[in-house]
Order: sequence, then structure tokens, then C-alpha cells
Amino acid sequence: MTNKLTWYGHATLGLETGGYKLIIDPFFSDNPSASTSADSVEADFILISHGHGDHVGDGVALAKRTGATVISVNEIAVWFGNQGVKSHGQHLGGGFKHPFGYLKLTLALHGSALPDGSNGGNPCGFLLTTNDGKKIYMAQDTGLFGDMKLIGEEGIDLALLPIGDNFTMGPDDALRAVKMLQPKVVIPIHYNTWGLIAQDPNAWAERVQKETNTKVVVLKPGESYSV
Ligand code: NI
Ligand code: MN
Repeated sequence: MTNKLTWYGHATLGLETGGYKLIIDPFFSDNPSASTSADSVEADFILISHGHGDHVGDGVALAKRTGATVISVNEIAVWFGNQGVKSHGQHLGGGFKHPFGYLKLTLALHGSALPDGSNGGNPCGFLLTTNDGKKIYMAQDTGLFGDMKLIGEEGIDLALLPIGDNFTMGPDDALRAVKMLQPKVVIPIHYNTWGLIAQDPNAWAERVQKETNTKVVVLKPGESYSV
């Protein structure tokens, strides 16, 4: 079994694992870096890390078209549920065995107001243990925090880390995150969507590979990596 991770631009990810299709933070329509449209992807499950518009994105329309179940913190799960979408609420530190694997919500240092001003609760990241035992950590929007060391103790095969700065960790702190997480592979996200978060991912990759044992995979929007 392989797990195919696709970066659609910004923090929007696709993951195919064991026959299930997941879309994480489905921001396509207003995303200048999106490689495709929300109409052209399929989903069995949609993971939402927090309430901001560049993460909730096309989530409601995508869930309604595909019949996918939305998984998020409880506040956001209820918000989707109120719009007629199937949803499953969890909370930080809590894991649940979904058909596609065991998904735990992790700490994230960020905000989480929903597009209509509703309270989205606390933002989260995702730690997925796939059914074939691979650990994939999707940090999504967060600043650096020391408990990444605890997440790293789980043995991360693949980490997705923001490097854009301004709204999330920038390159310096993302390098420190790699040192704490010690993933086998890291893929940078949440950069170059707008000028405000412009970064050179290849320069970051050189630094990471010089100072750590982690392999950096720099994707272009639409490209995939398999673990
Ligand atoms: Ni955000
Ligand atoms: Mn964001």
C-alpha cells in the first residue's frame, strides 16, 4: 500500500491512502496558487485545521458534492453540520480510528475564527497513522512550539510544515521544527500564495539538508509524493 500526498498549493493537500481519498484544507477557488479547481477533486473525508477562509475554503461545496465527511475540532464540525454536511468532531490530543487510519488532532499556535465570524474553537494540526503504519504529520498553520518534540517521538515518516512566515512559522523556525520532529521527509507548505508569504523553498531545503538528516521534497502545486 502506498500513501500518495498531493500539494495543491498553499496548505491544500490531497492524500490517497488504502483506497480512501482525503482532502485537507480545501482552498481552491480564491487560491492564486491552486493547481486545480474544487470541482475536479474527489473526497471521502475532508480535514479542516482551523476556521480561516484559506482553509475552510471550498469545504462546504466540496462536502456536499462528494458526500464526504468533514473532520475537525468540534466547533468547526458543528458549523459544517449546521450546513447539512456530514461531520465528525474531535479535539486536541484526541485520536479516533477512522476507516483511513488513526487520526489525532495536535496543538497549533494560530487563530480560528470562521468566515462568518463564528467561533472556530482552537486551531489544530493532524497526526495520521495510516492503516499500513505510516505516520504523517500535517502541521498546517502554526507557529513553532516546543511540544513538536513530543510529536516527533512518535516517529514521523512525513511532515508537512509551513514556511511562509507572517501568518505561520517562517524558514528559520521551520528549520527548528524539523530538528524537533526529526521526520524522515519534510514537505514545505503555506508559502508563495501571495507576496506576503513569498519564500525560496529550495534555499530552505539546502539549509535543512545541511543541518539535519531529514530529506526535503519541494513540490510544485499539483505534484505528488508517495510514502
Ligand atoms: Ni490561518
Ligand atoms: Mn492559512
